[in-house]
Amino acid sequence: MRSTLTLTPLMWGLLSLPLSDQPAPPTPIPVEPAPPLILVEPTPTSPRAVDEAPQEAPLSDKAGCVACHRAHHPQIVEAWAKARCGGARVGCEDCHGVDHDQMFRQEGRVSPKVCARCHPQQAAQIAEGAHTHSIHDDPQYQALSPSERAATCDACHRIGRVFEDGGQGDCAACHADHAFSKARARRPEACLTCHTGAEHPEFEAWTASRHGVAYQTGDAHAPGCVACHLKDHRLVPLSLGGGLFGAALAGEIGAQLKGAGSRGRPLALQQGTLTRADFEARRAEMVAICRDCHSARFAKRHLQEADAAKRRTDEIIAEAAQLIWALHEEGRLDPMPADRPPVPGHGHALVMGAVRGGVSRIEQLFFRLARVERAKVFKGAYHSAPHQTHGGLLEMELSLGEMRQEAKRLRAQGNVIELNE
Ligand code: HEC
Ligand code: HEC
Ligand code: HEC
Ligand code: HEC
Ligand code: HEC
Ligand code: HEC
Ligand code: HEC
Ligand code: HEC
Repeated sequence: MRSTLTLTPLMWGLLSLPLSDQPAPPTPIPVEPAPPLILVEPTPTSPRAVDEAPQEAPLSDKAGCVACHRAHHPQIVEAWAKARCGGARVGCEDCHGVDHDQMFRQEGRVSPKVCARCHPQQAAQIAEGAHTHSIHDDPQYQALSPSERAATCDACHRIGRVFEDGGQGDCAACHADHAFSKARARRPEACLTCHTGAEHPEFEAWTASRHGVAYQTGDAHAPGCVACHLKDHRLVPLSLGGGLFGAALAGEIGAQLKGAGSRGRPLALQQGTLTRADFEARRAEMVAICRDCHSARFAKRHLQEADAAKRRTDEIIAEAAQLIWALHEEGRLDPMPADRPPVPGHGHALVMGAVRGGVSRIEQLFFRLARVERAKVFKGAYHSAPHQTHGGLLEMELSLGEMRQEAKRLRAQGNVIELNE
């Protein structure tokens, strides 16, 4: 086994050669490419270095993984050798173990419980927030084939992945490529893969905001995502803007939109409900962050304006939902839920905000309004991106207009379908 180690005495000798542009000299192990001259700090060589293994190996490789993997995955080994969390400090086997079968089952990924052995504090901080939620119980998720899940949901929701050892979360979602760099994780681009697109356009919003512009034009103090969202490595709790669909105070329209599972409530739009006290506490925590750079008055006013935009979207949604509910009562949806494939987890109930299972045209319009256009508006508002708030509100008005026309058309058709419930 020793002979498969990367740093044979001869190579160790080579490492202390001065760096040059010359191609590296051939190594004694044929499967291996050139030794990584630039990767390790040259340490003082003992006079007997050529004959004896160094007292302290510069790369940690207790299980003999490195030599073989340098041949198969030179980029991985190079990144690992340079990383603070790698090289001399942390061996491959410290994270991956020594059982290839288990590694294959986990697709090479590493449970946060493993990282927690050396970083208990950071693991506990991450575990407090939404980045360790799993969507495995979500009926819409369960209804998909494994390959559909892998290509869509899993690629982002891997961040809440559950491992064989019970560990939950995925540190590599932010600390990637065997660099495990905290500097790279601080950059807003580290969040881009997931916080973008139809239902969560946060990156788009930030990019166009004054914050994003200041950042991109070189203001070192401009806030990226981490400045506002990750404090002491923990997600800062959010208030009305939190989550996929936002949250509402008890009694507000948004809270009534929370689906109870029956009679046409828009189930797929689960807004959280906050008490006034919760709201105040969470808002105060966010304002304290803004205060690093703005007055509290400025920040509060701005966030109140964003709350108002979010509430406006709830009013539009409530009106749109009412249109569908009335048509459902009248038996005029085309097709009615009874005449189309069941919605996973809900059978033939009317599930507003669902998109699969051949929903009627007016429900398709509702989906776009409630899940795509609305997200633009309120996520834009909380991230100071006026183009998104403005454009999204226009789109919502247009969609609501189309829904009203569609309702009129269905009523004009006159042929009521029997309700069978
Ligand atoms: C004799 C060669 C050899 C040795 C020694 C070796 N590996 Fe591998 N390992 C491989 C090969 C080959 C693959 C598959 C590569 C591929 O599919 O491209 C692999 C795959 C992996 C994967 C990826 C699993 C996946 O599903 O993507 C990890 C992680 C890994 N090895 C870690 C280790 C660790 C840790 C050690 C030391 C305990 C080790 N390997 C020792 C050859 C080796
Ligand atoms: C600090 C922990 C840590 C160390 C040390 C570490 N790895 Fe990994 N490795 C990971 C994590 C986490 C992933 C999953 C990356 C991801 O999901 O993007 C991974 C993924 C891999 C993969 C699969 C990557 C792919 O894209 O196919 C291979 C192969 C691998 N590691 C090999 C190694 C080898 C070889 C070493 C030692 C030279 C090593 N790892 C050291 C944590 C580690
Ligand atoms: C065997 C112990 C060990 C394990 C397991 C381990 N680490 Fe580390 N990690 C370290 C050490 C040691 C450092 C360097 C600390 C220092 O320089 O202060 C470090 C540093 C880091 C850093 C900071 C790097 C920087 O830019 O300064 C990150 C991020 C990190 N580790 C993430 C991880 C992740 C993610 C995992 C699991 C996939 C993991 N570590 C597993 C020991 C470990
Ligand atoms: C591009 C990345 C991405 C993809 C792909 C993706 N999601 Fe998400 N999902 C997110 C993000 C980000 C959030 C949190 C949104 C926010 O807070 O704005 C989220 C939130 C959710 C939530 C709400 C979780 C909660 O606790 O409230 C559910 C459920 C969900 N997604 C299911 C799915 C399903 C099912 C799929 C596949 C059909 C999927 N997602 C695909 C990124 C993604
Ligand atoms: C949502 C992205 C994200 C996830 C997920 C994440 N981290 Fe980090 N991590 C960061 C950022 C950003 C920093 C830099 C924080 C700073 O400099 O203030 C960091 C820093 C660290 C550091 C260096 C701490 C220090 O002060 O030197 C360690 C260690 C670390 N993370 C480990 C982990 C571990 C272990 C996990 C999984 C349990 C994890 N991280 C998951 C974003 C993340
Ligand atoms: C200047 C501070 C700030 C910056 C920078 C920032 N956010 Fe936010 N973010 C907020 C505020 C404020 C909210 C809503 C807070 C509340 O509910 O009280 C929010 C909400 C969110 C949410 C919950 C859903 C939503 O959008 O309302 C996500 C997810 C999110 N931000 C991700 C990001 C990402 C990713 C970035 C970087 C591309 C980013 N944020 C940059 C302040 C910021
Ligand atoms: C691999 C995908 C992924 C990456 C990378 C990622 N996130 Fe997330 N994030 C998610 C998902 C998925 C959720 C929703 C989880 C849930 O509720 O089930 C989420 C939720 C959030 C939330 C909402 C929390 C709440 O309480 O509603 C914030 C804020 C957030 N992420 C910020 C960030 C920041 C900042 C970064 C970069 C440092 C980042 N995320 C990186 C996938 C990711
Ligand atoms: C790390 C510093 C920093 C933090 C934290 C920060 N901002 Fe900013 N903010 C800036 C900078 C820099 C600008 C750009 C100044 C300019 O455009 O002149 C800016 C601009 C703005 C603007 C647009 C300026 C205008 O005059 O209309 C708004 C709105 C804003 N911030 C709100 C917030 C809110 C709300 C928070 C907290 C959720 C926050 N900021 C947190 C640095 C910060």
